[in-house]
Amino acid sequence: MATAGTFFGGRLTVETGDLTALEVDALVNAANPGLLGGGGVDGAIHRAGGPVILRECREIRRTRHPDGLPAGRAVTTGGGNLKARFVIHTVGPVWRGGSAGEDGVLADAYRSSIREAEAKGLSSLAFPAISTGVYGFPKDRAARIVAGLLKDYFLGGPKLSRIRMVFFSAADAEIFLKEAAPLLTGSP
Ligand code: APR
Repeated sequence: MATAGTFFGGRLTVETGDLTALEVDALVNAANPGLLGGGGVDGAIHRAGGPVILRECREIRRTRHPDGLPAGRAVTTGGGNLKARFVIHTVGPVWRGGSAGEDGVLADAYRSSIREAEAKGLSSLAFPAISTGVYGFPKDRAARIVAGLLKDYFLGGPKLSRIRMVFFSAADAEIFLKEAAPLLTGSP
């Protein structure tokens, strides 16, 4: 894992690497409403975490979200074989051009995941770049939204001690930092 940027005294880090390799309290999965796995980071988490994660997702679908997990919401399962103790599954918006409320749903996905982690009394949380892969959300626009909400979070009395933004490629991390660093370091 390579660190490309650190903010708020190291409480927020921007890194490149494989999210599934991290030893954190919880990983955030960029899932779909079905919660039954998929490609991208969803596929990687289920492959690395093993069948127990899918079993817990099926139980969540059966008992709490029979029609699927709505975009912007988050649920938590165990981490299975992952080093992470938990996986917080959230559904980001599918990009439809930007006038269908995608920005707000993206922010909701991050905020719901943070709330899930806080509700469990966790300390460290790692995010992938939700919706910027298969779901097609523009990476620079997502960076500005995420930077704004993370700045508000860390300046607003955070309960989590560490949030790690993990990008699969250095190029993606650079796009994020280009947009986010001015917002994050512009803080008092
Ligand atoms: N570690 C870190 N980041 C990763 C990894 C990984 N192992 N694998 C993929 N990524 C990155 C992608 O490069 C992208 O920047 O995660 C970001 C999110 O991409 P996706 O995984 O495609 O997620 P998303 O765009 O939210 O689309 C969700 O894709 O995988 C399916 O089941 C999932 O239907 C859902 C949809």
